[in-house]
Amino acid sequence: MTLILGIETSCDETAAAVVENGRLIRSSVISSQIDLHARFGGVVPEVASRAHVELINSVIAEALAEADVQFGDLDAVAACQGPGLIGALLVGVSAAKALALTLDVPYVGVNHLEGHLHAAWLQDPDVALPLAVLLVSGGHTMLVAVVEDGRYQVLGQTVDDAAGEAFDKVARICGLGYPGGPAIDRLAIEGDARSIAFPRPMIYEGLNFSFSGLKTAVLNHVRRNPDGDIRDVAASFQEAVVDVLVHKLLEAADISGAATLVMGGGVAANSRLRERLTEAGAASGRTVLVPRMDLCTDNGVMIAATAWWRLRTDGPTSLAGGANPSLSLVSTR
Ligand code: KG4
Ligand code: ZN
Repeated sequence: MTLILGIETSCDETAAAVVENGRLIRSSVISSQIDLHARFGGVVPEVASRAHVELINSVIAEALAEADVQFGDLDAVAACQGPGLIGALLVGVSAAKALALTLDVPYVGVNHLEGHLHAAWLQDPDVALPLAVLLVSGGHTMLVAVVEDGRYQVLGQTVDDAAGEAFDKVARICGLGYPGGPAIDRLAIEGDARSIAFPRPMIYEGLNFSFSGLKTAVLNHVRRNPDGDIRDVAASFQEAVVDVLVHKLLEAADISGAATLVMGGGVAANSRLRERLTEAGAASGRTVLVPRMDLCTDNGVMIAATAWWRLRTDGPTSLAGGANPSLSLVSTR
């Protein structure tokens, strides 16, 4: 049995989890800093770093207690080493290295994006490759083909805002506060998605994305219609984003010959996107792998699960390795 502690501090969640043999989730503790950042309308990097420092020890202790394991039972300690906010990343990386050194076990630095991908993979680690993957979070929107284990081919990505960023900005335009994704998701349920014809940017133009113009279209609409129903705005905006994401993921699957559609990252928690992807999978005869909701947004499970696999293929990460705020998915290998 291999027990790995995974630590995630790349943005505004301080998270830790213990995963057995890369698959069995023994614990998952996520301490969100939403309350701290909400009054600023978004994540303040310096506030995030300080909060991680304050929370990290208790989050790790809780993850061990929930898993019913002692420090001495751990076989490796992993942390997200990038991409993310540098000050935030350093807290998790330093904690993981210090623990690994003290316990005399391997340290594994994990790519955040690979983590999001593995969260979905946990649903069925034995699924046949190739996979067509949509990674959608607050910082990234990309289509990836997994051709063989650990080899990633980026097929397309956003040329401006990430999808999650668009959700957050539109929520702010609508006066819904931070974080915007879950607020739009909730409100959209009561709105009419066909009421406003927002653009589907670049939908038929290859595999890159653009969400900045859509955000501006929402801003202009709200300014011109100050008394309009905000639920209709939320539903119509969300439908436009979902249309683009689902369409391009199917196209990526066609191009890469993938029989399985995979989704990961915070926006993958969106109820309409999950519903539409499930429908698209069924209609096209493809398998759909999407993490359970709490494993879509940032968590320690995805770090520990990826670390288990990386440790077997690449061995430990050097303790001399630092954090890299702009680490790319492809350079992971
Ligand atoms: O993966 P994540 O937790 O952090 C990053 O790696 O960025 O993703 C956070 C993003 C935020 O932009 C948030 O608004 C969005 O995911 N998000 C959602 C939902 N839940 C979180 N977007 C749409 N619908 C949701 N239910
Ligand atoms: Zn993330």
